[in-house]
Amino acid sequence: MKAGRLAIAVCLVLFALTATAQTPPDATLAENPVFQKNCAKCHGKTAEGRHFAGPSLVSEKTLMSADDLRDIITNGKHHMPKFAGKLTPDEINTLVQQITASKK
Ligand code: HEC
Repeated sequence: MKAGRLAIAVCLVLFALTATAQTPPDATLAENPVFQKNCAKCHGKTAEGRHFAGPSLVSEKTLMSADDLRDIITNGKHHMPKFAGKLTPDEINTLVQQITASKK
């Protein structure tokens, strides 16, 4: 049934549009106060990394799964401190989303 497939396609497009619309355009990593307060001192105000400190979070190299990102932020990694207990799961999820979104 062609019409049925079209209806499914229209639904998917509408879903994608609504999903995008829910993230305000100004909600980038660099504009998240949680990032500026907790992460910018090592990863830079624009998340592009700083010498001798945290790596860039917006480069292609940070292409990892949301689960891995959440794990690193929650539990830390080498010189990256852990944020379990310092940030709420919601705040960590938002950071993960914004890091992922900066790759597109
Ligand atoms: C004290 C400095 C410091 C702070 C504060 C800090 N980081 Fe990091 N971060 C690092 C360092 C150093 C690494 C590299 C760890 C390694 O792989 O050795 C890192 C790695 C990461 C990575 C993995 C990047 C990659 O390519 O492997 C992510 C994601 C990350 N940090 C996110 C955050 C977020 C989000 C915050 C704020 C909640 C934050 N960091 C706060 C120093 C810091």
